[in-house]
Amino acid sequence: MKGLRDKTALVTGASSGIGQAIAIRLAEEGCNIAINYRSSPGGAQDTLDEAMKQACDDVEKCGVRALLVQGDVSKEADVVAVVDQVVKHFGQLDILVNNAGVQTESPSHDLDVDSFDWVLNVNLRGAFLCARETIKHLLHHQRPGSIINVSSVHEVIPRPHYLSYSISKGGMGNLTKTLALEYANQNIRINGIGPGATATPINDDWTEDADKRAVVESHIPMGRAGTPEEMAAAVAFMASDEAAYMTGQTLYIDGGLTLYADFQEAWSA
Ligand code: NAI
Repeated sequence: MKGLRDKTALVTGASSGIGQAIAIRLAEEGCNIAINYRSSPGGAQDTLDEAMKQACDDVEKCGVRALLVQGDVSKEADVVAVVDQVVKHFGQLDILVNNAGVQTESPSHDLDVDSFDWVLNVNLRGAFLCARETIKHLLHHQRPGSIINVSSVHEVIPRPHYLSYSISKGGMGNLTKTLALEYANQNIRINGIGPGATATPINDDWTEDADKRAVVESHIPMGRAGTPEEMAAAVAFMASDEAAYMTGQTLYIDGGLTLYADFQEAWSA
């Protein structure tokens, strides 16, 4: 895609799932990639190895570079250090993908405050902190940039028993729009993707069990879960110059999940 070669991209939570696929895809497109992980350098190293394999046959010649950066996105000092490390290593930061995310399940009347805070702190505070540090860097160097928030269909679909998650993704939608408006005239674009049910480790409870998976997929108009690569393709588009005039939008990649699936078949006259 146009305009990605030689850009530097930081992907948070990139040691598994959607973040891993995004880092690999951006490397394939010619970006240098900073692979953030919180605690598992093993998964992050797998991302790096696969990204390099996909990026080119000869790593030395193709010029794509990669860096592993440890840091908890919910901690301000970690985020400042992560962005600093990326800029020192690559000399620039052009693309941020706020992918790191967690969820917890509980009836809302039993949800303890620590679980509530944990989800909000990773999903929303983390995205804010990473965006803030990236924007600071871009403004300082008067560089254009692109931020992509990995949100969810639950940005717009309420999800009982996942109150903190739904709130965090709803907030992320507003983060996307507000930052997009604030920095539109500085050529910093902020967009988001809203994945539907995607086969990744966050969903081990149903992806690993054929019966449970069939139940989940029966609710999706297209009849199947999405893949991390399908999410990564949309992120690559949004980060590229193909989306140069797009800002403040969340693109839902969900097999039709946001289309009021109950209306797929007639149930009223
Ligand atoms: P995942 O569990 O494989 O990925 C989440 C990543 O975030 C993990 O690598 C984890 O280590 C990292 N992470 C968690 N806390 C962190 C922290 N404090 N600092 C840095 N990294 C941290 O799951 P998946 O599905 O790849 O999730 C990626 C994003 O996609 C999340 O934001 C999730 O909410 C979103 N999403 C996923 C959907 C799905 O069905 N898999 C659907 C909609 C959205």
